[in-house]
Amino acid sequence: MFHKLINTLKVTAVFTAVTFFSLAQNPLFIPPVLTGTTFNLNVQADSTEFFSGHKTPTYGVNGNILAPTLILNNGDNITLNVTNNLTTTTTMHWHGLHVPAMDDGGPHQVILPGNTWSPSFTVMNDAATYWYHPHGENKTDIQVTKGLAGMIIIRDSIESAITLPRTYGIDDFPLIIQTKCFDVLYQTAIATVFDTVPMINATINPFLDAPAQVVRLRLLNGSSDRSYLFGFSNNQNFNLITTDGGLLEAPVTLNRLRLSPGERAEVLVDFTAMTGQTVYFMNYGSQLPNGIIGASTVGNGMAQIPNYNLNPLNGADYYLLQLNIVNPTSNPVTTIPTTLRSLSPWNTNQSNRNRTITLAPLQMSPQTMVEGPFTMNNHQFSMNTINDTTYLNHIEVWTINNQTLVAHPFHIHDIQFFITDVNGTPAPAYEQGKKDVVLVMPQQTVSFITKFEDFSSNDPYMYHCHLLHHEDDGMMASFIVLDSSLVTIDEIRGDKSMVVFPNPIAGNQLNIYFKNNVNNLVNFKITNLLGEIILDNVLNITNHYATIDINTLSAGMYAIQINSENKNSTFQFIRK
Ligand code: C2O
Ligand code: CU
Ligand code: CU
Repeated sequence: MFHKLINTLKVTAVFTAVTFFSLAQNPLFIPPVLTGTTFNLNVQADSTEFFSGHKTPTYGVNGNILAPTLILNNGDNITLNVTNNLTTTTTMHWHGLHVPAMDDGGPHQVILPGNTWSPSFTVMNDAATYWYHPHGENKTDIQVTKGLAGMIIIRDSIESAITLPRTYGIDDFPLIIQTKCFDVLYQTAIATVFDTVPMINATINPFLDAPAQVVRLRLLNGSSDRSYLFGFSNNQNFNLITTDGGLLEAPVTLNRLRLSPGERAEVLVDFTAMTGQTVYFMNYGSQLPNGIIGASTVGNGMAQIPNYNLNPLNGADYYLLQLNIVNPTSNPVTTIPTTLRSLSPWNTNQSNRNRTITLAPLQMSPQTMVEGPFTMNNHQFSMNTINDTTYLNHIEVWTINNQTLVAHPFHIHDIQFFITDVNGTPAPAYEQGKKDVVLVMPQQTVSFITKFEDFSSNDPYMYHCHLLHHEDDGMMASFIVLDSSLVTIDEIRGDKSMVVFPNPIAGNQLNIYFKNNVNNLVNFKITNLLGEIILDNVLNITNHYATIDINTLSAGMYAIQINSENKNSTFQFIRK
């Protein structure tokens, strides 16, 4: 798809971002806020005037581009009504949120045009910055780049007890950093290798008046492919306080911060006594190492991404936001906290299972090593396949092994993880918090530890590369979290074409796994020892699984006969 876009677009040299460096003529757009417990989100097609006098078709939620910032409180029970007013299908994923798989908004929770999808769940995540965006099969890149992306701010009692800037748009600023490609007529704003126009909150060449005190910047890399190395034009230090999924134990002082697509970070910047000065928030792309999209080089002498070197942003240092430092507010925060909270990562000796996820090209050649399409454990994403099964309350160590020449931001749904190892060394201080995306450098490995808690079902969660064209090209896989107390067979994905579990069964839900039957209706009969039919009904197979409520069965031995794939199979089970 990457190539097709490049060939069919008459890409012009819209190098405005580069030539208008110092002309920060547009006030930074601050997305509106929604609070409460019921959120109405209308996904719509509209247009945006990125360049004056030119309307570019875009998508937005409750507006022409981007989406409102949702402010949520840990512990709240919320309902999100997502209405699809597009003429095409979409989905809406709550990136980083710990929610049941059916509420996750992955590729399986399709919202048809004209329909409303209304997941309800409890906010369980720690205070931090999250985001939401579509996740449709083969549609993530186009729909995100057309404008569908919004920030989620979660608050909790730990974060609220710390003296921090938290007045939205006053001393606490959302910054959604993206790049887009425009054609000659400004009729597209999409992602290709010619994403030459950087923007923050959909504003090109933005400026922001920031008060002369400690301000908080919530950074979200919402770009399709590009990583950044953030810093300030005066090289002043800043303090990282959160990673993707929550506060660090203590602020980490930095003057550069790398952020790959999907990642978030909150930083405190001290502008005290700088009234009247101008500082630029910058990308120092020249300092990114080979292999990261955004660096001067990706690949080697044998293979490079076609046209990569024609994009002036690659390997360049450029302004992203002009900050005009103005008078402080009436009750300014003027100090950086020394500690934030304690974290208790799991220990690798608690792991129930270690897995390796290998990232490799579908077909091996010098060129596919940089261009893909890429696979995860030799598979490409399929809507009808469950790639991995784990169990509720299992602790696992995942090792992501990147055998390609491109850095891939690995993202997993449902959980937050702690990085245990980056190519043989412990995670750097700035990555020692909770994470849901980690950039895995070419020819390197990253391991993390996590626990699959609270939610189990037969509905899949995703893990994938957050370079959106890699994801859309199949660099994604699915996993399910099963309640292990229901499963008596350790690994239900053996050679058997059908497995009935648990057996014996103490609860009310009998589960049946079908190896070859993905989505289907089949007949079943349950008979007792006397041959009497106790239940005779239809099984609704979804994603290889079906369940039967057996609460009407008394204790004893039963046989279940299932008519699938034109044969009758009989299994015995014991109801305790
Ligand atoms: Cu931000 Cu699976 O996505
Ligand atoms: Cu996600
Ligand atoms: Cu990738």
